[in-house]
Amino acid sequence: MSQPLRLGIAGLGTVGIGTVKIVQEHAALLSTRAGRPVEITCVSARDAAKDRGVDLSAYEWIDNAIDLASHGDVDVVLELIGGSEGAAYDLVKAALSNGKHVVTANKALLAHHGFELATLAEELCVSLSYEAAVAGGIPVIKALREGLAGNRIEALYGILNGTCNYMMTAMRETGRDFDVILKEAQEMGYAEADPGFDIDGIDAGHKLCLLSALAFGVKPDFDNLQITGISKITSTDIKFAEEFGYRIKLLGIARRVGTDLMQVMEPCLVPISNPIGVVEDVYNAVYIEGHAVGATLLTGKGAGAGPTASAVMGDVMDIARDIIVPAFAVPASTLATPQWMDLNERHSNYYLRLSATDQAGVIADVSRILRDLDISIESMMQHGRDPGAVVSIVLTTHETRHGDMAEACKQFAALSTIVDEPCLMRIETLE
Ligand SMILES: NC(=O)c1ccc[n+]([C@@H]2O[C@H](COP(=O)([O-])OP(=O)(O)OC[C@H]3O[C@@H](n4cnc5c(N)ncnc54)[C@H](OP(=O)(O)O)[C@@H]3O)[C@@H](O)[C@H]2O)c1
Repeated sequence: MSQPLRLGIAGLGTVGIGTVKIVQEHAALLSTRAGRPVEITCVSARDAAKDRGVDLSAYEWIDNAIDLASHGDVDVVLELIGGSEGAAYDLVKAALSNGKHVVTANKALLAHHGFELATLAEELCVSLSYEAAVAGGIPVIKALREGLAGNRIEALYGILNGTCNYMMTAMRETGRDFDVILKEAQEMGYAEADPGFDIDGIDAGHKLCLLSALAFGVKPDFDNLQITGISKITSTDIKFAEEFGYRIKLLGIARRVGTDLMQVMEPCLVPISNPIGVVEDVYNAVYIEGHAVGATLLTGKGAGAGPTASAVMGDVMDIARDIIVPAFAVPASTLATPQWMDLNERHSNYYLRLSATDQAGVIADVSRILRDLDISIESMMQHGRDPGAVVSIVLTTHETRHGDMAEACKQFAALSTIVDEPCLMRIETLE
């Protein structure tokens, strides 16, 4: 049998220990499949004394993770630390520079430094692999880079954050509001103590940048991604959406629009009749439209030790089989600087909720603003009447230019009868 593939693992948290377990428990299977043994030689984390629930005594402990980058017994560095800067960036850059393959689960790192690191990997003829960075257990990177390589990708829609999807599902099922469900999600370990990265859409935004890069052959461009999170969504929105036949999903969208590209992360109303509309709980999904394949939906668990370690090992197995493909599917030198469309020029149907004091003239004011901007209402609803109290007025529009909807919201917010910021969401029909 050929030489073993030797792994050095940096980061022994959820993903790192999940990966160690697969290698320990399935060594024979991995070896048979790869045609060579796959072994862990070295491990590193911050605290050498921490009990991690697995036996690490057979591996060399490395105090400073950066030393894995130059270690003679390491062929592949597994960067499972996290963070776009600092230890993770230093380690990946040093490992690639030293001609070592890198497997990482770190979307933040690649969303910010993907082009630089992919260029470096290519110069040194090594692999920079990151299946675990996007949608955990769903092999979507491989699907875009390999299985769908014969397609011109027209559009891609992703539910890319399990925490947000769980929260939207729980709000719908229980009718309870955002803050209550967030607290519950934190208690259940689905949301971090500091949930900002998830609920503000940053984590999903990092992933979308990587998918756009792969789909369209452009440099990952996080700085030009417009992101709206889910924290303004109320159970009222979820209830109304359901009445209209939709579910609210934090959706990452990347698509071609004429000669431009569009990239946005935002909560949208998605038809219940579309398969992505019924992807619930912690599940992720990516809906891809290719010119030849048509529409295809991949779904599965987006996070957790098992699904993420499964993705890490998929990358390791490619390297063990000497399968090295460019990080973003094309030579890094050909990755284009994208021309993103002006999102104000998008045309969609919209959902709008206004919190208004229930008094005469409110509906007339709202209608006047919409009429003056040439926005046509498809339906309007107000549940109950409560003179003097705050009520929700909800409407949907026919196809409208986004810039006009944004202007309408500005004018609504200036009305003395409107309390709170208007809640505006696009209705995404995935067509
Ligand atoms: N968790 C998931 O479900 C999931 C899913 C997809 C992608 N990811 C990505 O996978 C990566 C790891 O996530 P995780 O959830 O496994 O994180 P985690 O549980 O917080 O583990 C992080 C590990 O990194 C170690 N570490 C931190 N700073 C270090 C440093 N300077 N040098 C060496 N080791 C250091 C920590 O050491 P100590 O244990 O000693 O503190 C810990 O073992 C991140 O990029 C994350 O975005 C995670």
